[in-house]
Amino acid sequence: MILAGSMEINTKGNLEIGGCDTVELARQFGTPLFVMDEALIRNNCRRYVNALKTHYPRGMVLFAGKAFLTLAMSRLIQEENMGMDVVSGGELFTAVNADFPAERIYFHGNNKSTRELIDAIKLGVGRIVVDSVPELEEIRELAVQFAENKVAVLLRVKPGVEAHTHDFIRTGQEDSKFGFGIEDNSAREAVELCLQAADIIDLAGFHCHIGSQIFQLEPFSVAAQIMVEFMAGVREQTGFVARELDLGGGLGIRYQREDKPPSIERFVENLALSLKSALQKWDYPLPELLLEPGRSITGEAGVTLYTVGVIKDVPGIRRYVSVDGGMMDNIRPALYQAQYEAAICNKMTREPGEIVTLAGKACESGDILIKDIELPAAESGDIVAVFSTGAYCYSMSSNYNRNPRPAVIFVRDGEPRIVVRRESYEDLIALDVL
Ligand code: LLP
Repeated sequence: MILAGSMEINTKGNLEIGGCDTVELARQFGTPLFVMDEALIRNNCRRYVNALKTHYPRGMVLFAGKAFLTLAMSRLIQEENMGMDVVSGGELFTAVNADFPAERIYFHGNNKSTRELIDAIKLGVGRIVVDSVPELEEIRELAVQFAENKVAVLLRVKPGVEAHTHDFIRTGQEDSKFGFGIEDNSAREAVELCLQAADIIDLAGFHCHIGSQIFQLEPFSVAAQIMVEFMAGVREQTGFVARELDLGGGLGIRYQREDKPPSIERFVENLALSLKSALQKWDYPLPELLLEPGRSITGEAGVTLYTVGVIKDVPGIRRYVSVDGGMMDNIRPALYQAQYEAAICNKMTREPGEIVTLAGKACESGDILIKDIELPAAESGDIVAVFSTGAYCYSMSSNYNRNPRPAVIFVRDGEPRIVVRRESYEDLIALDVL
């Protein structure tokens, strides 16, 4: 199991988070239930903000809303003085409905709709991160109609670095739907287009993002070097000097005990040092540095609570322990073969006694949350916690099989508070038309 932040075992032998007994939480709020350790989320935010301040003179940490976004989360990010990366009109709507300052919002996406662009321009988002030439042309047209000031943009560039959890490759030409290529010159052409439209478009700088759940520091350093080299080339050809560089997100978290991602501090320090040395090499003035962490802010702060239902033995093969959620609240095992750890909240001090398979309740053989996990002997009615579900679980959840989405609660100093209500059956048919 992974006891992060405030998670501990209390005197009853139950799992506690944020000073709240998880068995009590399950009884009070029902299961499945997302429980988020608010203090740990805030602490992660502060570690990023402080590390950036320590190692680089100017910059801002943006939270990548795709990892986990609700009104309360938007408010928290605002209170922590961070910016936000949104990637759809829905994420933008969520943030502004929590009164998140539009100028601190960076709007991403490879296929933004006209409506999304109009909303972003009218609301005055901080930056639109432009991903293609047609988008640039559309922004130009829309800006004339809807913008009060110039529309500030970043160009998303492909640095040709593809990173995964334990390795990375430099591909040069990246096969990705996102952004402008360096090798094929499309990034440089996009700069020219922006500069030609300088009366309407304010090119602030560049963005890149090399991947997610990354444990190595080197690919980030390489990407920073490539971006600076690219910026120096642009300066030479056009005279344009970027005042901002956004190096995306990607730092990995612990899903399993043996996972050892670098700390937030090491990650930020390495990135800042690599960037500064590349800037020095090319004699390039220090741009503002933006970071966009998602998973490493909320991932380990979240736990999903389930109730054990049917336990079924397939003699000589395995024991299935079924819970009342599954792929609808956590698609990651089915989609990415993601591996998780779990514990029985009401049996935290018991020795592990059996290897079981934790199965979801969806009508799908592949709905297995954890294959072969060692747990104390499970019984129907036990409360199971699956750890590290605070990123890309609720935000990727579905109503598959017409299961209502779980509630989400924040816990802190012994106080639980609902930040998303549990969906009801009425919610499930609310949009249906007979
Ligand atoms: N910035 C951009 C432009 C991104 O595309 C992403 C993630 C982030 C920032 C945040 O990256 P993070 O710090 O969370 O690694 N659904 C997948 C992850 C997809 C990540 C997509 N982009 C999963 O569950 O593993």
